Amino acid sequence: MTNQYTVFRLPDKGSSLDALKSYKEPMPELDKHQVVVRICAVALNYRDIAIAEGTYPFPVKKSVIPCSDMCGVVHHAGSRVKSLKKGDKVISLFMQNALYGPCTDWHDGLGGPIDGVLQEYAVFPEHGLVKIPKEALMTDAEAASLVCTGVTTWNALYGNVPLKPGQTVLVLGTGGVSITALQIAKAAGANTIVTSSSDVKLKHVQRAYKPTHVINYKKCPDWEKEVLDFTGGHGADYIVETGGAGTIEKSLQCVAFGGIISVIGFLAACPADQRPDMAGLALAKGAVVRGIMVGNRQQLEEMVRFTVVNNIHLPVDKEFPFSDSGVMEAFQYMAQAGHVGKVCINFTHDLVPK
Ligand SMILES: NC(=O)c1ccc[n+]([C@@H]2O[C@H](COP(=O)([O-])OP(=O)(O)OC[C@H]3O[C@@H](n4cnc5c(N)ncnc54)[C@H](OP(=O)(O)O)[C@@H]3O)[C@@H](O)[C@H]2O)c1
Repeated sequence: MTNQYTVFRLPDKGSSLDALKSYKEPMPELDKHQVVVRICAVALNYRDIAIAEGTYPFPVKKSVIPCSDMCGVVHHAGSRVKSLKKGDKVISLFMQNALYGPCTDWHDGLGGPIDGVLQEYAVFPEHGLVKIPKEALMTDAEAASLVCTGVTTWNALYGNVPLKPGQTVLVLGTGGVSITALQIAKAAGANTIVTSSSDVKLKHVQRAYKPTHVINYKKCPDWEKEVLDFTGGHGADYIVETGGAGTIEKSLQCVAFGGIISVIGFLAACPADQRPDMAGLALAKGAVVRGIMVGNRQQLEEMVRFTVVNNIHLPVDKEFPFSDSGVMEAFQYMAQAGHVGKVCINFTHDLVPK
């Protein structure tokens, strides 16, 4: 390894994507319990755009190295590291100290309150990495997509009362979280419904991921009624709620009695004076409204096992090369929201954009 390596940083709490710049920095010192990883792929999340644009509602470190999700290869393991060795393929744990049980704070989330993974090499504690088994057929970008999106969807469907075959799962929109949840739910034998703003995206989703039913929420603003109709009045047993304040009322109207709404995203705004009576609506359905904070190491390991055993390839829409222009194009592409699934950055070879 040379003494200098490339790292991207946002100069302060971001205000625009243009603020993202690359630097050459010296390699940090390695402690005997730590592992140096050569990064091969990074998966972007909506959070990374929100952090760069300064709209993320949680604390962000000054001059942060953005992004949380990486897949890489162990370059060097400290003398006290037991479970990993040089050459192992690994992914990062989003909240570096969330090992099991409920996550108790956001303060150790990569690429926000602490430095993230948009860099050639990164140093992690041993417990902050999860090994990808040798038999896994997934690409580096697909593996990186497990870190936030993968574990979040696993937490939504298995972190409380586990999903059963035959139940209905509703996912809102066609971003990374929603399409990954669709893939898991399908593999688990669920009835699946996807909403989107775009017929073109829905056509692609139908062809590539084969949900049971799709709804264009722009053309059908009463999409909650369509969910109830399609399920014969039963409603959705699980809702992967990526919209937030602007969609939660409709989600509560179309959730099944006793169903689970996983509150994950904040994509759809709602003026404070128009916010619904959440308590009344949840009570009327006997529903669980459960906030999701990504997931812990145990859940990430479960998700890795599930995807490997079922040969699930997380939905990578497009990969960009790790270069000044490639990184900027990846962020812009993600911000334009034309993607279906995940947008990734690949460090290992020059890619011709699809
Ligand atoms: N709580 C957590 O632990 C956690 C973890 C991961 C992500 N998140 C959050 O979950 C949300 C989704 O993340 P992501 O990475 O999947 O984002 P993403 O890939 O950028 O997906 C965004 C997609 O959501 C859809 N969308 C946008 N506005 C919508 C609206 N008003 N109603 C319904 N759908 C809408 C759009 O799809 P269409 O064009 O098809 O409509 C859009 O392409 C973000 O808010 C993110 O911060 C939270």
